[in-house]
Amino acid sequence: MKLSFKYFIILVSLVIAVAACKKKTQDNITTELPPFNPTPYVIETPSNLPKMEVPSYNPTTVEGVYLGRKLYYEKLMHPQGTSSCSSCHIQNEGFTTRGTNIISHVNLGYHSKFLWNGEIRGSLESAMMFEVEEFFKTDFTKLQTHSLYPLLFYKAFGTTKIDAQKCAFALAQFLRTMNSGNSKFDRFVRHETMLSPEETEGFSIFFTEKGDCFHCHSMSLTTDGDIHNIGLDSVFNGVNAGYYNVSHSAADYGKFRTPTLRNIGLKNTFMHDSRFQSLEEVIEHYNSGVKHSPSLDPIMTKPSKQFGLNLTQQDKQNLKAFLLTLTDSTFLNNSNLSDPN
Ligand code: HEC
Ligand code: HEC
Repeated sequence: MKLSFKYFIILVSLVIAVAACKKKTQDNITTELPPFNPTPYVIETPSNLPKMEVPSYNPTTVEGVYLGRKLYYEKLMHPQGTSSCSSCHIQNEGFTTRGTNIISHVNLGYHSKFLWNGEIRGSLESAMMFEVEEFFKTDFTKLQTHSLYPLLFYKAFGTTKIDAQKCAFALAQFLRTMNSGNSKFDRFVRHETMLSPEETEGFSIFFTEKGDCFHCHSMSLTTDGDIHNIGLDSVFNGVNAGYYNVSHSAADYGKFRTPTLRNIGLKNTFMHDSRFQSLEEVIEHYNSGVKHSPSLDPIMTKPSKQFGLNLTQQDKQNLKAFLLTLTDSTFLNNSNLSDPN
């Protein structure tokens, strides 16, 4: 009796072992998997940018960033295979497309409000979930049956199973490395270079009450990440209603998230609806075009600004010259951010 029980156990273990082997050989990727051991990735940000917070549930790794970069340039992310993130977010145009209102991808790891009207709130991971699921409606079977991706997901996340969350996490890791901090402005702030007299004048208009830009386009990110009504309209319809379309509170009419001004010199249309075609027009808006409404940001009409900024022609030129110092060619040509294929 005792003996046969022992044999029974051995037999059962053998059956299990054979079954396990068979399962493994069916999926030849799993038999060849290396140990899961991702390498931590240190996000290096210049000294004049704040320290970036990374959520503990999605630590940045070399493998995760690489996978995110692959996916960013991957047309299979689109159900019809026709476009990737990089089709619209083009590196040498500042990760936007000239002539559109596509938002540039720069220093997004610092944000907690996304899209022009600030609709998506929370982590970069949640913004990426939205992009992958709602915007792209990615069909994951195409990535799952691809010769390379299951292994890349395994190396980044310890599983070959591909889903929206892992795509979003990898993209978030890559986006956290898309940081600009080496424009002429940055180098000036770090005392590594001088600005021209015009640019210096523009800098002081921007960063003092004279132009009063810095309250929203704050150092060194050039954005406070928050939403404001800057007086583009006094009556609000459709998309121009801004965060009102999300909150349905009248206090939010016309509120949009302060955009970064990094690489602004590359753009040729401005604002959420691309209503301005030049930096001169933008500056003139702030100088003399602010429209009043109950939700107008109080900063726009504080005591010295009730009748506009009263900038001279020279002031406006200087302000524009300063804005052009925000172009960061190191970032625009950073080979770690380009198509890895
Ligand atoms: C067809 C063009 C197009 C493609 C392709 C595209 N985007 Fe965008 N993206 C936009 C537009 C337009 C906006 C601004 C939308 C808005 O605010 O209403 C935007 C905004 C964003 C934002 C918000 C940025 C911010 O600062 O708030 C993120 C993040 C983003 N896209 C990521 C991605 C990712 C990741 C992909 C690929 C999965 C992708 N996008 C593909 C056009 C595109
Ligand atoms: C009260 C906050 C606030 C102040 C002050 C402010 N801005 Fe803005 N800025 C914004 C917001 C919000 C937007 C986006 C508005 C929209 O699209 O509806 C914006 C948009 C811009 C844009 C267009 C960016 C793009 O990508 O289209 C430029 C350029 C700009 N601001 C420059 C300036 C300058 C120069 C000053 C100072 C003269 C200034 N801003 C003052 C909040 C502000």
